[in-house]
Amino acid sequence: MIPLKPFAINVVFSEEAFYFYPLEDWRAENIGQMRKKSYGFTSEGEEIFQYTLKSVAGAEIEIITFGARITSCKVPDKNKRFKKVVLGFDSLSDYLKENPYFGAIVGRFGNRIANGTFSLDGKEYSLAQNNGGNHLHGGNKGFDNVIWEVDEANSSSNELKLSYFSYDMEEGYPGNLEVDVTYSLKNDNSLEVSYEAVTDKKTIVNLTQHSYFNLSGNFSEDILGHEVKINADKFLPVDQTQIPTGEIREVENTPFDFRKAKLIGENIEDENEQLKRSFGFDHCWILKKAENTAHFAASSYHKESGRLLEVFTTEPGVQFYSGNFLDGTLPQKGGKGTYTRRSGFCFETQHFPDSPNQRHFPSVELNPGEKFSSKTIFKFSVK
Ligand code: GLA
Repeated sequence: MIPLKPFAINVVFSEEAFYFYPLEDWRAENIGQMRKKSYGFTSEGEEIFQYTLKSVAGAEIEIITFGARITSCKVPDKNKRFKKVVLGFDSLSDYLKENPYFGAIVGRFGNRIANGTFSLDGKEYSLAQNNGGNHLHGGNKGFDNVIWEVDEANSSSNELKLSYFSYDMEEGYPGNLEVDVTYSLKNDNSLEVSYEAVTDKKTIVNLTQHSYFNLSGNFSEDILGHEVKINADKFLPVDQTQIPTGEIREVENTPFDFRKAKLIGENIEDENEQLKRSFGFDHCWILKKAENTAHFAASSYHKESGRLLEVFTTEPGVQFYSGNFLDGTLPQKGGKGTYTRRSGFCFETQHFPDSPNQRHFPSVELNPGEKFSSKTIFKFSVK
């Protein structure tokens, strides 16, 4: 006898909307409007889960417990056609292999620390030199490559709270650090990412979200035709190894002037030493800051689709990275083609690279008894 294929449809009613979820596997589970399913196992046999958050306006964000990564983000264009606008892979096995932090939470320290060393209260610490001679994005096994616990999956507020316990001297950083990241999808299609951390020993913390965006919804199209605006008069020039030189430079009369929206491609190939050193844009802009609340940091607009992404943050800087190191070796989502150079860009809101070694940059130190907190909002709309 041929066994019957399991088939079921779950209908979830809420005040504003209802959704149909075909249950394509027995293990999937609906938590109100949120959906949880197994995403596979690591080579050590640990199970990874995927959560899908869906807004009333229809945006859909998928997050996995490996690296607290956003694996998919589906938003409408001006004709209400939904497409995926964040680079990612189809399966866990690709996330387990080396990749450029696709969708991940980066920590304990986002971006570079010169020579992988810094000192706190006169004591020197050595970190992995995993980027030339420098330390990058938390080291060999940063927060992008660890399994996060789910503390709360709240379907009424559409919030997913993940936590990670980073032990004292993990990747060379001092102090047991308890980190929480909460993803909250609002009904206006904005995704709020809130971070909190506490330590039991003085340490450094600089967390960021490393999603690559391509608002066209076509991962085979490069991002040079996207407009970008950055709310900054100044940026941080880098040396040959992409460490800030310490200079704070005006953007005026440079290719780094995004105060008025312009295409990413407009100046990216200009004869410019800074663009050469980073193979394109890969710099930290110093944001004009409003008091205490999340302020406008940057935006990107893709004219053909009408999709607009606006970013607000409590952080003092944004690393705008134009996907210069994507090299056509990683498979696209959906099984067609690969991610070629500049097929995605990142707005990594954060403190400045190499801050522990540059005393004139805002401090990244966290002391016992203090609470690190930070918030970034990625708002999707059309115009
Ligand atoms: C950041 C860095 C880049 C690169 C990417 C990921 O943007 O500044 O140099 O490491 O992350 O590849």
